[in-house]
Amino acid sequence: MGCTVVAGAFWGDEGKGKVISYLALKDKVDVCVRTGSVNAAHTVHFEGKRYALHMVPSTFVYDKCRLLIGSGANVHVPQFLKEVKEASVEGRIGVDRQASIIEPRHSEADKSDSHLRSLGTTGWGVGPAVQERTKRSAKLAKDVAELKNFLTDVSEEVNSAIDTRKNVILEGTQGLMLSLYHGSYPYVTSRDTSAAAICSEAGVGPSRVDTVLVVYKTFITRVGAGDLPGELSKKEAVRRGWFETAAGTGRERRSAPFDFNLARRVAKIHGATEAAVTKLDILYPDCKNATTYDALSKEAREFIATIEKATSVPVTIVGTGPGALDIVDRREIM
Ligand code: IMP
Ligand code: MG
Repeated sequence: MGCTVVAGAFWGDEGKGKVISYLALKDKVDVCVRTGSVNAAHTVHFEGKRYALHMVPSTFVYDKCRLLIGSGANVHVPQFLKEVKEASVEGRIGVDRQASIIEPRHSEADKSDSHLRSLGTTGWGVGPAVQERTKRSAKLAKDVAELKNFLTDVSEEVNSAIDTRKNVILEGTQGLMLSLYHGSYPYVTSRDTSAAAICSEAGVGPSRVDTVLVVYKTFITRVGAGDLPGELSKKEAVRRGWFETAAGTGRERRSAPFDFNLARRVAKIHGATEAAVTKLDILYPDCKNATTYDALSKEAREFIATIEKATSVPVTIVGTGPGALDIVDRREIM
């Protein structure tokens, strides 16, 4: 696998956690750098337990993987410590000294600022924390006593892993339509979510990346405010089995059918070389738990082919159920 960047396609919640946990187990990923912040929850089902991870990288399921939080990330210290305990990863997780810190006052500001309220932010305080970082007055990980034993130089660790041909994942959060630069501004998050920005936050240069894997879901969901083209009524979403609630905040997600034109634009900006498509079983129930391409129905295969045609990107990973191993892995087509 070499160095793979995993990036979300639309408004997040495409199932990056599931795809990354699969790759971790299948490819024995040596190092994973999580970027972004606590506003994103990545869902991982592993050994009968469901994890909604806001800080710990989704590759934790492979017990030899070194877990890192990049210098571009924002760390919520209590949530980080809670997840480190829950996932039992204390001895193998590191935080870059220069990652910035979200403090309780940032969350208070996020929840009380009327402008941020109107955008429907998650309330975790990421926007106000980033604001302080750009003002260059934010606290960094190296300033926090509770993080002392976790501090490391992430760019050094990850680049030497790439030098020695180890398998590396750079774990993006959210999706391109929530990007501060490329998304549906102002209804976006406070950072760029593109593949290039994921590399930047991790301290990895673009020439070092082998694969950019964009993660699509078979339908689109969005939480918070802002336009959602083709939005369905809640009743229709429930009828189609598309109604979801957010893993992090519990808010109701709005939903819409897959958008092939938007998928093309997203693939281009990410520079995607491969695509994953999750929740094929929701659109085509007869595909549930399938693990081979031949086991998919004709309609399901046609849907995948239409995505490939629209985006010019091969679909190499297909999700057919919630478990980490409910996957059709077609990477042999590369
Ligand atoms: P913030 O990132 O908390 O400032 O929220 C800004 C917008 O991004 C809101 O519409 C949030 O619902 C959305 N958002 C932030 N993180 C996620 C995520 O992980 N999944 C889906 N939407 C998100
Ligand atoms: Mg999520």
